[in-house]
Amino acid sequence: MTLTAYNNVTVPPFMYGTAWKKEATTRLVLMAVEAGFTAIDTANQLIHYDEALVGEALLALAAKGTTRERLFLQTKFTPANGQDHRTPYDVTANVATQVAQSFASSLAHLHTDYLDSYVLHGPYGRRGLAPEDWEVWAAFEQLYESRQVRMIGISNVSAEQLRLLCEKAKHKPFVVQNRCYAAFGWDKEVRDICHTHHILYQGFSLLTANREVFTEAAVRAIAAKHGMGLAQVVFRFAMQVGMLPLTGTTDPEHMKEDLQSDRFTLSPEDVQCIETVGLS
Ligand SMILES: NC(=O)c1ccc[n+]([C@@H]2O[C@H](COP(=O)([O-])OP(=O)(O)OC[C@H]3O[C@@H](n4cnc5c(N)ncnc54)[C@H](OP(=O)(O)O)[C@@H]3O)[C@@H](O)[C@H]2O)c1
Repeated sequence: MTLTAYNNVTVPPFMYGTAWKKEATTRLVLMAVEAGFTAIDTANQLIHYDEALVGEALLALAAKGTTRERLFLQTKFTPANGQDHRTPYDVTANVATQVAQSFASSLAHLHTDYLDSYVLHGPYGRRGLAPEDWEVWAAFEQLYESRQVRMIGISNVSAEQLRLLCEKAKHKPFVVQNRCYAAFGWDKEVRDICHTHHILYQGFSLLTANREVFTEAAVRAIAAKHGMGLAQVVFRFAMQVGMLPLTGTTDPEHMKEDLQSDRFTLSPEDVQCIETVGLS
């Protein structure tokens, strides 16, 4: 199964996230691809990610015959307020130059000449879109039009910001990547906007942000009924409501389990139960 963006680019249904892996990044990316993941998420932001170590894994995979085209690579431009002193661009340069420098260094880290998806890690402010956000977006649109990236997107975006971007951008986002809280209907408002605009919604922290969901008797009963684990039920729910889930597991058994989340089907009642479980 694959997902399709509104420009017809196909995207794998599950993504392996590389945040917080530190020196284990290379080993874990290799393990994830060998387990069956074909989509990798990273960021050019050393506080949480190590893009160059993802690149080391890609070199090792290429040596074993995994071609670049078989993988879906997504990375992010992180504004200076989300970086530490190791910012991968000149912070005194204008925003377009910062994007160009960060993008060039991402290509070098990942040993590629194009990206499948390039994501703004987060808008510059919490409300509205700042002039800097529009400057980043214009630079992203140029990367898209020059075919250096196949899709552009935004992360950590509110419904208000996403509506604004969809209204005013020349190219609306192809991808949104957000933290997904059951307490907010699993980001229902943003997901609904994505649905309307045919934007692919990627959900992260599906497990870690929703630990209370796992203690709910109704959710445990759904898992027992299908003979599946709680993580698999949450990932399957995410897929059935149209999300592309991310997992950052470090455990080879969990990698297999997570990838097997598409091997069963939740009933409409199960989906309704999980979608609303955090709202009460
Ligand atoms: N855009 C952003 O700002 C942003 C922010 C955060 C994350 N992300 C992206 O999203 C990715 C995933 O982050 P995340 O927060 O969803 O994941 P995560 O924090 O890496 O956590 C996954 C957690 O779930 C556990 N887990 C996974 N599969 C499991 C299973 N089958 N059974 C039991 N436990 C399981 C993992 O434990 P084990 O290791 O023991 O399996 C881990 O504790 C990140 O790596 C990053 O790429 C993006």
